[in-house]
Amino acid sequence: MILIKTPEEIESMRLSCRLAAQTLRMIAPHVQPGVTTDQLNTLCHQFILDHGATPSPLNYRPTPRNPQGFPKSICTSVNHQVCHGIPSQRILREGDIINVDVTVYLNGFHGDTSRTFFVGPPTSRNKKLVQVAEECLSVGIAAAQPGGYFGDIGAAIEQHARQQHCSVVREYCGHGIGRSFHEEPAVLHYGTRERGAKLLPGMIFTIEPMINQGRAEVKLMPDQWTVVTKDHSLSAQFEHTVLITPEGNEILTVS
Ligand code: MF3
Ligand code: CO
Ligand code: CO
Repeated sequence: MILIKTPEEIESMRLSCRLAAQTLRMIAPHVQPGVTTDQLNTLCHQFILDHGATPSPLNYRPTPRNPQGFPKSICTSVNHQVCHGIPSQRILREGDIINVDVTVYLNGFHGDTSRTFFVGPPTSRNKKLVQVAEECLSVGIAAAQPGGYFGDIGAAIEQHARQQHCSVVREYCGHGIGRSFHEEPAVLHYGTRERGAKLLPGMIFTIEPMINQGRAEVKLMPDQWTVVTKDHSLSAQFEHTVLITPEGNEILTVS
């Protein structure tokens, strides 16, 4: 079931999403050569607590094999890491790209956003991929219109990625979000126009296409979280939480 949020719930979502966006804006100037991904994690963790929220990823999804769940407060995915990278002592170097994915839980509601940063001056290869990934999010959002279908979003993203000779990761998708971190529906970043559920005012979900420079296939690392490209090609991602309105849509994770 895809929930339709009430006006009160939408107001709360605005606050959690704004804080997530502010956290990303705060961390941007800290993404520099010589910084570890764990330092970025610590800064975000403290910022989120200082604003009366908690980081949603921390201890997310415990399993019998991993009773702690996700061990950190943000995801940091570097170069060929696609998503769910775990902050560590890894030192960022000039020429790296890094996706920082922030999800906060504020007053009972989650807000989720990510972007890919350049570490130092970007190479032309990095620039190209990151630009395509950001455009893929934009065309996906533009396709999210009331009365349309979830398939419109995926089709728009897939078409743009292909046109730019990049590929779309299929194993991970966007998601409904609200009182739960991951709600229905799964928002696919590929597909066919006019397929899938209808887009209705009051729906809130993320769009977060993962775009690879090489092939689309991914694999899971032994840490059971970090997803990487099978061919080790570069991967980039941008994510927003979006509300469908009667007139169109509203990006809730703008700071
Ligand atoms: N923020 C990610 C998303 O966009 C999910 C991270 S789950 C974690 O859905 F456990 F890896 F943090
Ligand atoms: Co996210
Ligand atoms: Co998400």
